[in-house]
Amino acid sequence: MALRKIVLEGDEVLTKKSRVVEVFDKRLHDLLDDMKETMYHANGVGLAAPQVGILKRVVTIDIGDGCLELVNPELIGAKGESEDTEGCLSLPGVWGITIRPKEVLVIAQDRNGQEIHITANDLLARALCHEIDHLDGILFREHVKEYIEPEEE
Ligand code: CO
Repeated sequence: MALRKIVLEGDEVLTKKSRVVEVFDKRLHDLLDDMKETMYHANGVGLAAPQVGILKRVVTIDIGDGCLELVNPELIGAKGESEDTEGCLSLPGVWGITIRPKEVLVIAQDRNGQEIHITANDLLARALCHEIDHLDGILFREHVKEYIEPEEE
């Protein structure tokens, strides 16, 4: 496993659409392992492959109860609204209030290509929407209704 460099806003890789993963091989497993390590090292809740410069539909998420590894995740359903604070490892120091669905249904594949279904609400729903957006080149700024100013020291 190795830490990868997190790409910051301004790099055009973050605005591109990622490709569907068709091969579930060691290369994919290495990417997932590296993304997990990179996410934990940066104290992030989620990371999408474009954030380490790889345009593949791969994300890792851990809201505190174990790591989800999702390949080709798709938002299938969404219900309700939830307003909360959001940030991104690619936009350090930027925080904003966004509105996301309260509850989502996501279908994805695991690292071996097995289909998985995830129903999630609140923080996990928010993280799923945020990371899936990255795979379509969308940053959370597009959802911000109000930025939070950093507190003065
Ligand atoms: Co992000």
